[in-house]
Amino acid sequence: MSLRLGDVAPNFQAKTTAGDLDFYEYLGNSWGVLFSHPADFTPVCTTELGKTASLQDEFAKRNVKVLAVSVDPLDKHHGWIKDINETQNVSVGFPIIADEDRQVANLYGMIHPNASETFTVRSLFVIGPDKKVKLTITYPASTGRNFVEVLRVIDSLQLTANHSVATPADWKHGEDVIVVPAVSTDDAIKKFPKGVKIVKPYLRYTPQPDIE
Ligand code: BEZ
Repeated sequence: MSLRLGDVAPNFQAKTTAGDLDFYEYLGNSWGVLFSHPADFTPVCTTELGKTASLQDEFAKRNVKVLAVSVDPLDKHHGWIKDINETQNVSVGFPIIADEDRQVANLYGMIHPNASETFTVRSLFVIGPDKKVKLTITYPASTGRNFVEVLRVIDSLQLTANHSVATPADWKHGEDVIVVPAVSTDDAIKKFPKGVKIVKPYLRYTPQPDIE
């Protein structure tokens, strides 16, 4: 059974490029992004890890710990990191799990046998401070993911965790948000002092509540 939204993200211990690690200890009270890629020394994966490294400050700003995983061994990971740093002009600062026995891959359903019997697909999990799964995405080996989109979703997840709002299509940090249906319009007017724009009784916008 694959992990679904709201499920507890299982803990594990793993060998990584930053030493042995316990997943829950690594996360602490932070948010987490755990993502798999098919193999080291492959072109799309090189760009994905490079892009993630270039966004390290953005993940840190959002209190998000990043952890990559593939089924390749540790010595291969270390050699590949040198290539990523050189070709993508970054310094990979997050650990990569060497999941040779596929413990993490199996725990998180990252191997899709009808895509590949041996390699992990491009799975990504966003995990909240409560250790619950907040987002899952799965891409095929041939398509690199959009890590700016991952940050955008994290912005939405962090905002909607604390306010009675949802975010519309293509929303970006700073734009108006949607008042959730569970809040009546009368209550919304009291709750959101920046104002409520009523387009339809079920479609109500308010400026993002957690910014000036
Ligand atoms: C890549 O990262 O480029 C890749 C990996 C596995 C299959 C296809 C592409």
